[in-house]
Amino acid sequence: MSENAGTIPASLPLRNDLIGEEPYGAPQLDVPVCLNVNENPYAPRQDVVDSIARRVAEIAPTLNRYPDREHVELREAFVRYLERESGAKLSVDNVWGANGSNEIMLQLFMAFGGPGRTALSADPTYSMYPEYARDTFTGWQLAHRNADFTIDMAALKEQIATIRPAMVILTSPNNPTGTPLDMAELRDILEFCETVDVANAGEGVHPVVVIDEAYIEFRDPGTPSAVTLIGDHDHLAVSRTMSKAFAFAGARVGYVAASPGIVDCMRIVRMPYHLSAVTQAAALAAFDHTDEQLAEVDHLRRTREETADWLRKQTYAGQPLEVAPSQSNFLLFGGHFDKRDEIFAEMLSRGVLIRVVGPAGWLRVCMGTDDEMARFREALVESMRAVES
Ligand SMILES: Cc1ncc(COP(=O)(O)O)c(C=O)c1O
Repeated sequence: MSENAGTIPASLPLRNDLIGEEPYGAPQLDVPVCLNVNENPYAPRQDVVDSIARRVAEIAPTLNRYPDREHVELREAFVRYLERESGAKLSVDNVWGANGSNEIMLQLFMAFGGPGRTALSADPTYSMYPEYARDTFTGWQLAHRNADFTIDMAALKEQIATIRPAMVILTSPNNPTGTPLDMAELRDILEFCETVDVANAGEGVHPVVVIDEAYIEFRDPGTPSAVTLIGDHDHLAVSRTMSKAFAFAGARVGYVAASPGIVDCMRIVRMPYHLSAVTQAAALAAFDHTDEQLAEVDHLRRTREETADWLRKQTYAGQPLEVAPSQSNFLLFGGHFDKRDEIFAEMLSRGVLIRVVGPAGWLRVCMGTDDEMARFREALVESMRAVES
């Protein structure tokens, strides 16, 4: 059933600014090959499934009670994971979890956005951000990226100086382009923001720089993460998730690493007991199996590189396909698809769901299993030929 099958009666006092709005979300279609929402295609192994079931069974008799609203044990697990994954030395006061990094972002907007405040990002980027802005009555502005999807530093800094945003949100690797944010540039942005006073806030109030690292585990090994800068920058918040590399999208667990001050701001706006005991138990069990959960990340990285090479050898309308260099588990490709909706539809009719997203002329595909990628390649060639003729 379509998510919008019902109509909203005009008699309902829906907020004026929400009239005519649609719920956000990629289509959830029952097709054989789903490569549209950047999930890890490899299911948890049986021993992980057993551990999750055991942990949940252990806490089930306590479900008459509210969960630990500070989710301290889980925050300890975030700290251990971030040290292992990025070498960052943080404490429980530096981390905070929520139902997916979507909720982390919403909490950041609730804490730092609001009427009279603006959030600034660099497009093309993740299409949920403007929705958080809308829902929290926060202004939304964009500094356009360079043609190769890297940050246009001059344009971004000019916008920061002019708009004086409460939040600067940058995604690394970026969705939908896969582009990483250079660490020297990030340091430059952080230092620049420390000189800027936020509009509609007191003197000496500086922007929070939010780095969304939803896909960071797919970066080239050895590349630093923004979490390593937290000790030096009190206005840096790095959003992370268990949904992507960690293969745990269905559990809905995201987290932020930041200064204790930022975490305390988020604690003001969180719903009481927002993270259920079941969620906390399942996430702790998954962290007990970190190696297994991340086991396919190297393979997915290789799949990305092989797929990018293959895509660059394909042609559409007589020209080779472009592929944006990606440090993520997806690829933005095409560049000159004059009929991308038709190509998408042709692929769907062959049982392969990808995503129409990003600038005109491009399509996005996330990395699936080897079999799924073989079906993707076959379907893409056929679909391009069908649309061209
Ligand atoms: C850049 C980015 N941030 C955040 C999210 C949300 O992830 P989560 O499942 O943690 O809410 C996504 C999901 O696709 C994303 O692409």
